[in-house]
Amino acid sequence: MTDDKISANKAIDAALHLDGDPQKVRAFYDEWAKNYDIDTTNTGYVGPRIAAKLFHQFDRSERQNLCYSFSVLDAGCGTGLVGDELSTLGYEQIDGFDLSDAMAQKATETGSYREVKGGIDMMQAAQHYRPLSYAGVLSVGVFTLGHVPPEALNVLVELLRPGGLLVVSTRSHYYDQSNFQEVVDRLIADRQLHLLKLVKDAPYNNDGDGHYWVFRK
Ligand SMILES: C[S@@+](CC[C@H](N)C(=O)[O-])C[C@H]1O[C@@H](n2cnc3c(N)ncnc32)[C@H](O)[C@@H]1O
Repeated sequence: MTDDKISANKAIDAALHLDGDPQKVRAFYDEWAKNYDIDTTNTGYVGPRIAAKLFHQFDRSERQNLCYSFSVLDAGCGTGLVGDELSTLGYEQIDGFDLSDAMAQKATETGSYREVKGGIDMMQAAQHYRPLSYAGVLSVGVFTLGHVPPEALNVLVELLRPGGLLVVSTRSHYYDQSNFQEVVDRLIADRQLHLLKLVKDAPYNNDGDGHYWVFRK
């Protein structure tokens, strides 16, 4: 591998070298949609499973009566890997959105979601959903190099109800190279979020580790 290579998988490496321009990111994922599941499976991607399990674990411990009928939003749902995990855990009202229509179409086809919207940029998501409308929000594999800026976290917080759970993954190199921690610190200082758990340097895929963040609003 040359120095600037992050992944030996060609498509994953190209994804991590995107520049965050929504038009380019969208075109890239529209093209990759057909092979995304194969490539991520072959590279040992476990982000969706770990994030969904963490969400479930905290959901169970935070709620007196476990209730699967509240709405959960999968932000940057891709082909629906997170929705599949949540559905297996028993969640029934899962909505998803993604920048790429082709990825969103794949997520729709899983049957795990109540509604999936394509063509939505996370930075503008508050224009497409009512504020405070979700009891849970997850975003896995999106806070990663070349995709969304850390400030997109503010948008997800807007969509979350008070008391709701937010679970986000960050690739380790994204965390190291961005101001993600600064954005988190500001949200915590403003009492918008409380950090319940941070799992650092946990398995993500064969290319490297990730961090998993669990917040309560
Ligand atoms: C690595 S995939 C992760 C998909 C899924 N969450 C998973 O874990 O398999 C990144 C996804 O983020 C989406 N994405 C990238 N930038 C986005 C943005 N600005 N707004 C919404 N989705 C975005 C891409 O289209 C892609 O589906």
